[in-house]
Amino acid sequence: MRIDIITLFPEMFAPLNESIIKRAREKNILNINLIQLRDFAFNKHNQVDDTPFGGGSGMVLKPEPMFRAVRSVLKDSLPNEKRRILIMDPIGKIFNQSKAKELAGFDQLIFICGHYEGFDERIYELADEAVSIGEYVLTGGELPAMVIIDAVARMLPNVLGSDESAKTDSFYNGGAGYPQYTKPRDFEGRLVPEILLSGHHAKIAEWRRQQSLIRKK
Ligand code: ADE
Repeated sequence: MRIDIITLFPEMFAPLNESIIKRAREKNILNINLIQLRDFAFNKHNQVDDTPFGGGSGMVLKPEPMFRAVRSVLKDSLPNEKRRILIMDPIGKIFNQSKAKELAGFDQLIFICGHYEGFDERIYELADEAVSIGEYVLTGGELPAMVIIDAVARMLPNVLGSDESAKTDSFYNGGAGYPQYTKPRDFEGRLVPEILLSGHHAKIAEWRRQQSLIRKK
């Protein structure tokens, strides 16, 4: 999957150089490009934002640099039906696991991130959809983009090892998972449930199923 991220703060994306995402990039399952919005500013001050018409506090991201940035990404992009352009927005549609699964079906995702300020309304027409990671306001779209990339990447074939993916199946299938234990059997008096030590696979499977129902909110 190809991922293009348009942002004023490409250095915030350092977490995508760690762990499972790092491995996926090394294996060329993920190809991530960071695009500096300021490179598409059109005046000598590299200005990307301005004061809002009608007054009010704060700055607003100007349309021209964002249109130029997105158009430049689209120049060598995959056809429309294989890609999705997402704008990170606190009042967008709330991201969840089924959205992650849907996005994992595309070959290219393009992320539009703002920072501090709002977007000029005309920027929204560049995006296929506005996505929020929850009902709270962050300082920018960078963390939301990383959250979405992480959740989508782990659904792509061969990103997780077989051990890791088996573990996540229950949530993926709609459950909330079951309690897990490893050694020691007795940690400061907190014991591992007997059933897990019984070696009785059918009973363990049933116990896990029950537990996952209890956990599901
Ligand atoms: N930008 C600021 N807050 C956000 C949120 N909660 N989700 C997506 N983008 C955002």
